[in-house]
Parts: sequence; C-alpha cells; structure tokens
Amino acid sequence: ARKVILDVDTGTDDAVAIMLAAGLPELDVLGVTTVHGNAPLVHTTDNTLRVLDRIGRPDIGVHPGLSRPLVRPGFPGQKHFERDSRRDMHGTTLPLPEARSAPSDVSAVEFLLHTLRTTTERVTLVPVAPLGNIATVVAIDPSVRDAVEEVVIMGGAHAYGNVTPSAEFNVWADPEAAAAVFGAGFERLTLVPLDATHQALITREDCAELDALGTPAGTAAAKLITRRIDAYTAGSGVAIPDAAPVHDAVCVAYLVRPEVITTRPARVEVETSGELTVGRTVMDVRPNATGTPNANVAFGADGRILARLLKDVFATGPCG
Ligand code: BDR
Ligand code: CA
Repeated sequence: ARKVILDVDTGTDDAVAIMLAAGLPELDVLGVTTVHGNAPLVHTTDNTLRVLDRIGRPDIGVHPGLSRPLVRPGFPGQKHFERDSRRDMHGTTLPLPEARSAPSDVSAVEFLLHTLRTTTERVTLVPVAPLGNIATVVAIDPSVRDAVEEVVIMGGAHAYGNVTPSAEFNVWADPEAAAAVFGAGFERLTLVPLDATHQALITREDCAELDALGTPAGTAAAKLITRRIDAYTAGSGVAIPDAAPVHDAVCVAYLVRPEVITTRPARVEVETSGELTVGRTVMDVRPNATGTPNANVAFGADGRILARLLKDVFATGPCG
C-alpha cells in the first residue's frame, strides 16, 4: 500500500478526506498532522481525533503542528473565523461525538522529520491546509525531500480566490509557508487549486445516497457535506446552489483515481507582500511560459468520479 501522511486543518472537507484515506486499502496512512486554519489548532486537532474515532481508526496517530502562521502571528485572525462562508463550520467543532483518543505527544514536525528520515519506502504528503508544518520541516532538513514520493496540495487559485478575489484560504492563511513549499524543490508536486475543486461538486442526492449506506463514514460524510451545500447555497462570493466542492477529498481521490483531475505543468509562485493580492498563487500558464515548472496543476476535476469513490469506500467499514 502507498504510504501517506495527511496534513489537515480539520474542517468539513478535511474530515471527508481523512475518512476516504483511512477507508482506502490502497493507502497506508502513517499518521495525520494538524495545523491552524479552519479553526484554531486545538480545534482542528480535536476535530481530527473525532473523525478518526468515529470511523474506528484511533490507531492512526494525530500529531499537532503549528498554531499560527510563520510570519503574521495575528493573521488571519478572528475576522476569518466569522467569514460568512465558514457557515459549514458552525464555529470550531464538527458535529461528531467527543473524541476518546488524545493527540500524540510527538509534534507534527518531529513526526514528519522522524518518518521521512527513517522510512525505507518513499512517502506521499497530502497537505490540505495552511502549509506551516511542511515549510518548517523542509526548513529544518531539506534532505527529507528525497524521501517524499509526491506532495499533493489542496490550495491556491488561478481564476479567483475564496477569501479574496485573489487568494484561496490555505495559501492566504500562511503565504510565506506556501512560498517556501513551492520553492522547496520537491521532485513531484501536484497542486489541486480551486479551479479544479470547484468543478468536482457533490450534490444533495449524493448526500442522500451516502446517508443511506448506514455506515459511520457514510452518515458523517452526508452530514458534513450537507453543511457545505447549505453554506454554498447561502454563501456570498462563491455561491453554488444545492451542491458543494469537497476540496480536500479531491487530493485523496487523486491518489487512487488519478483521472479525477486533469493537470498541466506550470510555474507556481506565491505573492507575500501585495496589498490586494497577498496569498495569490501566480501561475505561469502563458503559451510560451518562461518559468521552469515546479508543479503539475489541476485545472479540471470530475465530481462524478469523486462521488462514486466516496459511495464505494464509505459503503464498507464498521456499521452503526
Ligand atoms: C481550503 O480551505 C478550507 O476551507 C478547506 O478545508 C480547504 O482546505 C479551501 O480553500
Ligand atoms: Ca483543509
């Protein structure tokens, strides 16, 4: 099985991504690292524990990481948590039973460094959150790149952002970390930006089918994605009636169904000082682009492939 480490700021779509990865026999989830983002670190960590307990996987370790951005301590600050499109979060805690498990006392950075320094098989990193943990690891020991099979990042946007017209949340929340990761020289970096995830929509009908599975993962996914659909239906900025993207789950689906996205090579850089553009991923997609590509960027995605995979994987697993 392919060794993976998920880096999350568990929110509703991270939760679906975690359940999908844990349910796929093709993947060996070595651990989950958490970071600030959709909610403060203590909550993204607690939410991650709730998800893993809910699907009967307390064996997967949860390793807390950075509690704030690398540079802007006060950034993004409270204003982000009150942002109307955070309606899916209903605050900071996911609607799942309290966690019985505790986080590991090995921090995210220590876990990543130890795992990448000792593994005999290359590991795939799947960061679907602000990138402070990954940036810190490569800052401490750039050689760990050699142990990384592929980095599959949910983040960035070319056409339009979701926090501002320019910027997508994961990159906007810690632009310097994102700039460091895109500049770290990873051999294989796949970027799944909003341009792709906004095409991979899950509908209310899909949620009804997931709920009808009667499994913990199916029921939880139905509830969490329905919250996303309600938020996007009522949302401003990026409004989508009666369907929603499940951004982070697209990255996990790609690991076993690469056809869920269509990619092209591009050079991706991050704006860290713009007034209107801080956190923008600047992608060189010009016909005769001069920049050396540092990522395979997804500009297309198929929600039907994602929906099918969720239903197949969540149909099994402990019932009730
Ligand atoms: C990203 O931000 C968060 O809201 C989601 O979990 C996803 O990782 C989308 O912009
Ligand atoms: Ca996320």
